[in-house]
Amino acid sequence: MRSHYCGQVTENSLGQHVTLAGWVHKRRDLGGLIFVDMRDRTGLVQVVFDPEHAAIFDTANALRQEFCIQLRGEVRARPDGQINERMTTGKIEILATELTILSKAAPLPIDFNNQVSEEQRLRFRYLDLRRPEMNEKIVFRAKVASAVRRFLDNEGFLDIETPMLTRATPEGARDYLVPSRTHEGKFFALPQSPQLFKQLLMMSGFDRYYQIVKCFRDEDLRADRQPEFTQIDIETSFMSAQEVRDTTERLIRGLFTELLSVDLGSFPVMSYAEAMRLYGSDKPDLRNPMQLVDVADLLTDIEFKVFAGPANDPNSRVAALRIPGGASLSRKQIDDYTDYVKVYGAKGLAWLKVNDKDAGMDGLQSPVLKFLPEAAVTEILARTGAETGDILLFGADTATVVSEALGALRLKAGKDFDLIEDSWKPLWVVDFPMFEEHEGGYAAIHHPFTAPVGVTAEELKANPAAAISDAYDMILNGCEVGGGSVRIYNAEMQSTVFEILGIDADEAKEKFGFLLEALKYGTPPHAGLAFGLDRLVMLMVGASSIREVIAFPKTTTAACVLTDAPGIANPDALAELHITVNAKPDA
Ligand code: AMO
Ligand code: AMP
Repeated sequence: MRSHYCGQVTENSLGQHVTLAGWVHKRRDLGGLIFVDMRDRTGLVQVVFDPEHAAIFDTANALRQEFCIQLRGEVRARPDGQINERMTTGKIEILATELTILSKAAPLPIDFNNQVSEEQRLRFRYLDLRRPEMNEKIVFRAKVASAVRRFLDNEGFLDIETPMLTRATPEGARDYLVPSRTHEGKFFALPQSPQLFKQLLMMSGFDRYYQIVKCFRDEDLRADRQPEFTQIDIETSFMSAQEVRDTTERLIRGLFTELLSVDLGSFPVMSYAEAMRLYGSDKPDLRNPMQLVDVADLLTDIEFKVFAGPANDPNSRVAALRIPGGASLSRKQIDDYTDYVKVYGAKGLAWLKVNDKDAGMDGLQSPVLKFLPEAAVTEILARTGAETGDILLFGADTATVVSEALGALRLKAGKDFDLIEDSWKPLWVVDFPMFEEHEGGYAAIHHPFTAPVGVTAEELKANPAAAISDAYDMILNGCEVGGGSVRIYNAEMQSTVFEILGIDADEAKEKFGFLLEALKYGTPPHAGLAFGLDRLVMLMVGASSIREVIAFPKTTTAACVLTDAPGIANPDALAELHITVNAKPDA
């Protein structure tokens, strides 16, 4: 039906007759001539209807926004004053000689040129996706997926599918359950990731696996989370953590070079402990220059209990955050920051303004200054590098509260004071603890199949809190784009980890019996990683929400407003599934 795409007709085709198919993007009547910007997925081209071609002029007059049309015309140069250098097709226009309306469009429910609510955009997503800026993001996503496949295919990875109707994989979220018709009262879980299947594929000898695959997690949604999202899922046999990181780093570096002409360089590696110490976060945004500075050792002997208490407790922390230029903060703004950190459990936010560094103690202003010896203050100023015009904000509490509170404040102040560098800052975070304390027991920081570093099963059991895992997260601009680990490949270690997690032998057998069994038959050492494709694309296109790079995303309440899902099930279908619904569905 066409000879060219709209966005690809250039001066190379001058004098030729072309056939185009697409949509009316914009129509203007100008002194007897009708101009139409015609659009398809490649872009726009200007079409001119001249009354001399009387047979089609009336039809052209009837064209409205978003009519679907086909036309034939001659490519000619635009008159001098009308050249648009910013458009690929800006030097030419098409003089139409034939026109067919393929499909009329009713007046649009969304206005392409003005702000429309996201709800409305999602309800009419198929129209929203016609907008060039949305179209570009979806096309870009396809290019990323294609480049990923090319890279992994070249490196000898095999694309192997894994089941969607399966058993729960513990990745830390709630499962989406699917009732079984043939097994009364039983349920499948949709996979939170293909984790166990990819490990089984290593046991089958496939050696290098990948899959671009949907994962399902029923968790609280945020700007970078969706209930169904896509992973670039990777697993390898006989590769060390370092080799997996090298390969996947090359993959990401290649994507940025190919698709954005950006050289990410080689990624720095930082331990979890270092990340928490300097940034109060396990996914530090290195575009933000501020760091937390520990000062507990200077405050152990002072009277002020708010500082001295945590300063003398090994599980606590006293740290300062210096905001360059922060002395300009008003009392009200400091109070707002104090309320902000309270969300993370902080009890207060002591502050110290450096109004005039050269004036010594007289140049400082702080409600806690009277509690602090001059020598300690001098050392705090030196360590933080404080200058005239800066403010220091202090956290004193358990290490977790201080890191989380000042870590979050660091991000907020970075934005408020416009300190975020416009650049790409990737890094690896490694050496995570195996477990975190959780409701009197332990929970896995990554998933329960992650191997510990350098301990036997016995040693692990004796001191779980001290164990470090062989896991790695890839962080880009403060966003966790991927994570993975070396896996446990012997049954004894796997059983020990289940035990530490409070999964007793019966439960382990019931839930993961197949894995424990499989581990008996010559399991190769294996390791892998999964990237969040949606998150990666979101960062690459500079979108602020993951929904902008998914063709048909869910809302923040995990609903699809386009199809109105989830919906009420038909009573016959429920009966077949042996399900009675007690709840009254909300309207
Ligand atoms: P993990 O749970 O860290 O690891 O997930 C891997 C990556 O997937 C992305 N991601 C999400 N993206 C959008 N919405 C969500 N709800 C969501 N949850 C996770 C993140 C994350 O880094 N099986 C392991 C991987 C492995 O060990 O190989 C796993 O799933 O970018
Ligand atoms: P107070 O003596 O409780 O009035 O606190 C004096 C100053 O210390 C105030 O600026 C409080 O915001 C601050 N403050 C109180 N508790 C903490 C804490 N745990 N960490 C940091 N600052 C605190």
